This record gives sequence, C-alpha cells and structure tokens, in this order.
Amino acid sequence: MLVLGIESSCDETAIAIVNEKFEVLSNVIASQILDHQKTMGVVPESAARLHVSKFTPVLEKSLKDAGVTMKDIDLITVSNRPGLIGCLVTGCTFASTLGLIHNIPVMGVNHKLGHVYSCLLDLKEEIEFPVVVLSVSGGHNELYLIKSQEEYQELGKTLDDAAGECYDKVAKMLGLKYPGGPEISKLAEFGDPKSIKFPDPLPHQKMNFSFSGLKTNVKNKIQEFVESGKLEENKANIAGSFQYAINHNLSKKLLYAATEFNAKEVHLVGGVSANRNLRSMILDKINKKGLNLNFRHPLNFGFCTDNAAMIALLGHLKLDNQKPKSVITPQ
Ligand code: KG4
Ligand code: ZN
Repeated sequence: MLVLGIESSCDETAIAIVNEKFEVLSNVIASQILDHQKTMGVVPESAARLHVSKFTPVLEKSLKDAGVTMKDIDLITVSNRPGLIGCLVTGCTFASTLGLIHNIPVMGVNHKLGHVYSCLLDLKEEIEFPVVVLSVSGGHNELYLIKSQEEYQELGKTLDDAAGECYDKVAKMLGLKYPGGPEISKLAEFGDPKSIKFPDPLPHQKMNFSFSGLKTNVKNKIQEFVESGKLEENKANIAGSFQYAINHNLSKKLLYAATEFNAKEVHLVGGVSANRNLRSMILDKINKKGLNLNFRHPLNFGFCTDNAAMIALLGHLKLDNQKPKSVITPQ
C-alpha cells in the first residue's frame, strides 16, 4: 500500500510517498526559508501563496523520485491541523482535488502526531514500548506517552511559547538570521554556558513548559549589556547560557516523565531535535542517573524538521480520529 503525504501547515511545501513497511520512497521539500529570511520570520499570507506555486512541481518530483504514478497511490494524507489557516487551506484543497481527480481517498491528519511518530521513518531496530516522546519545534512543544504503536496520550505541553519559537526570538534579539535555532547553536559554541544564570522556567510543573519568561529574561540581559556597551563581546555567552537553560529544562522534564511512566525508550522529535547540545544533554542525564533507557531521534535531519514523510506515515498507522474521506477541510 502506498500513501502520498502532503505537508503545508507552515513554511515547507512537502510531498512524500511511503510504503507499508514505512520505507520512504520519496521525500521532496520546497523550503520557504530564504523567502522568510527577508521578513525575519514567517508571514502567513506569503507562506500560503508560495505553497500554491510549489505544489505541482513538488508533486511531479515526488512521483518521479519514487518511480510511480498517481495510479499506484492508495491513499492521500494531508496535514489539516494545527497550522497557519491559509496554509492549511491550500494543502487541503490541493489534496482533495488530487483525490477527486484520481479517485483516491483522502485523510486529514494531525501534523503534531506526524512529529511524534517520526522516529519510525528511519528505525534501525524495533521499538520497545512504553515510549516517552518530547516533541519540540517552532509551533509546538509537548510530551507524549506512547503505550503501543496505536495508543498515545499527551502528558504535558507548553503554556505559552514553544522552544523553537523561543530559539527564533532570542536569535532575532541577537541580530541572527531566521530560523534562529541553528544560529544560536553555532554561536553558543564560542560562549560559556555557565556565564549567565537564567532562571529555570516553570520548575514546579513537572511535565508542562513555559518559555515566555525566559524570553523576557534574555531580553532584559541584552538590554543590560547594551547599556554597559558590552553586548558584542557577550553575544556568544548569552547564546550559550540561553541554550543551556532551555535544553536543561527540556531534558529534565523528558526524563522525569520517562521515569514516572517506566518508559523503555525516550524519543526527541521536531525541529529542535536537530540541536546537538540537547541530544548530548539528554544522553548525559540518562548515563549520570544510570537509567535503562534507549534514546532515539530521527537520524535523518530532514525528518526532524517539517516533512511530508511523517504525514504519509500516519496513513499507515491505525490512529483514532483519522478516517478517509473525499474532501478534507482544515480543523
Ligand atoms: O518542526 P519544525 O520544522 O517546524 C514546526 O513545526 O514548527 O521546527 C522548526 C523549528 C524552528 O523554530 C527552528 O529554529 C528550530 O526548529 N530548529 C532548531 C535547530 N534546527 C531547527 N532549534 C535549535 N537547534 C537547532 N539546531
Ligand atoms: Zn512541525
């Protein structure tokens, strides 16, 4: 069975084809990053317009890379929640039209669940359940418990900003380019992570997150350095100390949940899972605490950030709330 997945919930126009063994036959992404760098962030209306112009070439390349035609496709899946509404409308309209033309059922799927299951896309060996997943990206930041492949439960989430959003905003304050995560992480290599002590965010809620206060703390610190004329020489220290504070908080809450629910594995997924410091901090904490936990993240960088392979994958999983239809609307 072949599933064609369509992703356009934010700033990537992506189409992928995945078979029943979860093998990714094609995974094409047209990124809008260069367009959004001009505005230092995503402008929803521009993103929606760009999707419309990219769908057809991305579809043609995806079919060609997989060596198939639309006749071979059994199901189309499309991200129909959550996301920028104009962007979701373009994806749902494209998917529904494609389904009607080729007489293929279409299924609307939850983009966040795509990230949650994304480690299945490049698995080296079988997963052992239960698994606790930390999903961290620009738009979402949650902890999930996966009891079996089909059974998931949200354990906690951010009460305000997602970690990726916080990385992006701090980068903007430091005059770095969009997206900010990779920029902060590069600059942090030259700074001392212990030089500035930012308060640990929302310490008393073990599985929920909050990063808007941390953003304000960084803003105030930058202002202090501006006033003392020492900002330039301290930018790397700010990046390093901010990265330490946010990654410490994320890894601590992930491992708390893993211990609480006797997890066999922990998975780190979403755009921020590309952060090497966060990956090594999680591993360090597992080793220091002597926990018997297998740690995974998507091996392929393209499966950390937004992609359509994870959207196609959801068509193969028997998750609730997902039924094929002929027309899909955003939710
Ligand atoms: O999953 P994703 O592509 O899109 C959303 O669903 O939001 O995540 C994008 C986010 C951005 O905020 C970006 O700054 C962050 O992931 N990101 C990183 C890194 N690479 C991407 N954050 C920290 N370190 C990185 N290396
Ligand atoms: Zn995402």
